[in-house]
Amino acid sequence: MTAPAPGTTVLTVEDLKVHLPTEAGTLKAVDGVGFTLKAGSTLGLVGESGSGKSLTSKTLLRLNPEDFDEAGRITLHATDDHDELEILSLDPKGPLVRTVRGRRIAMIFQEPMTAFSPLYTIGNQIIEAILLHTTSDRHEARQICLAMMAKVGIADADRRIDQYPHEFSGGMLQRALIAMALSCSPEILIADEPTTALDVTIQAQVLELISQLQEELGMAVLFITHDLAVVAEVCDEVAVMYLGKVVEQAPVREIFKNPRHPYTRGLLRSIPRLGMGRRERLYAIEGTVPQAIDLPPMCGFYDRCAHRIDGVCNTATPQLLPVAPQHQVRCFLEDPDIASGSKPAEPVPEPATSPTAHRAPTAAEPKEQR
Ligand SMILES: Nc1ncnc2c1ncn2[C@@H]1O[C@H](COP(=O)(O)OP(=O)(O)OP(=O)(O)O)[C@@H](O)[C@H]1O
Ligand SMILES: [Mg+2]
Repeated sequence: MTAPAPGTTVLTVEDLKVHLPTEAGTLKAVDGVGFTLKAGSTLGLVGESGSGKSLTSKTLLRLNPEDFDEAGRITLHATDDHDELEILSLDPKGPLVRTVRGRRIAMIFQEPMTAFSPLYTIGNQIIEAILLHTTSDRHEARQICLAMMAKVGIADADRRIDQYPHEFSGGMLQRALIAMALSCSPEILIADEPTTALDVTIQAQVLELISQLQEELGMAVLFITHDLAVVAEVCDEVAVMYLGKVVEQAPVREIFKNPRHPYTRGLLRSIPRLGMGRRERLYAIEGTVPQAIDLPPMCGFYDRCAHRIDGVCNTATPQLLPVAPQHQVRCFLEDPDIASGSKPAEPVPEPATSPTAHRAPTAAEPKEQR
């Protein structure tokens, strides 16, 4: 397969919603998410626990239980070898989904131990994946597996191919998982917290490996993490998720240099810095993420936001608006009309009260910097 030219859009997600039935009501776990993945480029999906990152990525592979309500569009674009597919219109149990899973979109998970069966050798499991997607010749599949194991830095692959998962260390197992994911040359790699379970030196090696293989194979990568240091290391673009919505999206440098959403700024302030005094406490965003059940139209970050404007931020849901080229923010403070007080948020049941207690910062005030 020839890899698409770097920068080619390989996947478009538009207004994706995943709503879950719960005893307490409908949980809007993913609620209007959109992004594009481009060949050779890495999009980081960040946000705290429960913000909908994993659910978003599982939906791309149709891995959700049947009673989840999915809406929106996920377009996997055509390549030299494959037709364009509308993922959400595929039968989740049908043959086309199987051409997507593993073959066109591969996924590596946080916990490599649970991804492999303890009953079969590592080689057997990788070879099965190759036989499913790439070739029906077992000998050729074994050769591909050996080459892939060597490529991900598993020394002595000839011997290790016949070992069982318990004979591999955590770092080696994660490498084997990456070898399995990449053995079918997918167009897209989803990495869901792939290094969280590893110690830091191994973490760095695995990140380096993913970047190197991405360059070689021209894949688009969706990298899910809550670790902003990792984001700075591997991502080209970042989408910050909060309560099922993207609240800010921008190229990685822009996110670090000029974060605009109060939640993003809070996340950045909570990273430990070199030179921090030992007694200096790490910043923590106050409060907890509310459950996205029966939320009235309002900003989901309202209760935790130090800059909220009463009568505005709690009366309507902010839209994701462009604030600079390639930089979008979902915050009333960034809506020029509202920040200047000339336009109330839509829809407003009563005339908006004037924002006194919580005033929007004006353009003249410096933004918080990291
Ligand atoms: N299979 C499921 N059944 C019920 N609720 C679910 C299921 N999967 C996800 N959820 C709920 O959907 C919301 C989003 O979950 P998701 O796993 O996408 O979060 P996340 O951003 O990946 O969090 P984390 O950083 O902890 O992995 C959460 O409230 C979660 O409890
Ligand atoms: Mg998750």
